[in-house]
Amino acid sequence: MFASKRIGVLISGRGSNMMSILDACERGDIDGEIVVVVSNKPSAAGLEKAAQRGCETFAVSHRKFPDRESFDRAVVAELEKREVDLVCLAGFMRLLSPWFTERYRNRIMNIHPALLPSFPGVHGQRDAVDYGVKVSGATVHFVDEKLDHGPIIIQRAVEVRDDDTEDSLSARILKVEHEIYPEAVRLFCADRLEVRGRKVIVTK
Ligand code: GRF
Repeated sequence: MFASKRIGVLISGRGSNMMSILDACERGDIDGEIVVVVSNKPSAAGLEKAAQRGCETFAVSHRKFPDRESFDRAVVAELEKREVDLVCLAGFMRLLSPWFTERYRNRIMNIHPALLPSFPGVHGQRDAVDYGVKVSGATVHFVDEKLDHGPIIIQRAVEVRDDDTEDSLSARILKVEHEIYPEAVRLFCADRLEVRGRKVIVTK
């Protein structure tokens, strides 16, 4: 048997994806526990929610650091202090430095509200509506040094309706996010994800 995994979640906002992972850990679906929730925004609503559920939290504004890597080093120090195995970005609105991504290669996940490589960036749902695609969705992927780019773990499609707005599509995609992110974390914690180049194989 492998030891239960130690998970660090990085957020910047409301933290609903973080909560979906926390719920799955508490239900016993995931063989792991969230050992720290880190936010670059001390006012992030998700911090309070995490603390209420008994999670350790750590908030540090990136504005206090001269450059991206020195902020990342402060975050990684917190993760290493708690021997984190997996880092989950959950609405974390900062690009990670190559130093960070290399240190946790294939051990950082992100959730993106579109079917990558379509519509990367911060307006995935709005861009899908504006483009007129009929199908969008959500993607969980490993993080590399490029934005919304690393190997894809799980994707699920969501139909785009003629009368969809950014908000209505976002709401339906978010429901899917809350299903596929815990599922990807579950597979990681069961040592069932194998990365071969750009492909992520789910092993038996
Ligand atoms: C989600 O839509 C996620 O896909 C994107 O940022 C949003 C975060 O929402 N990366 P929440 O903070 O998890 O509620």
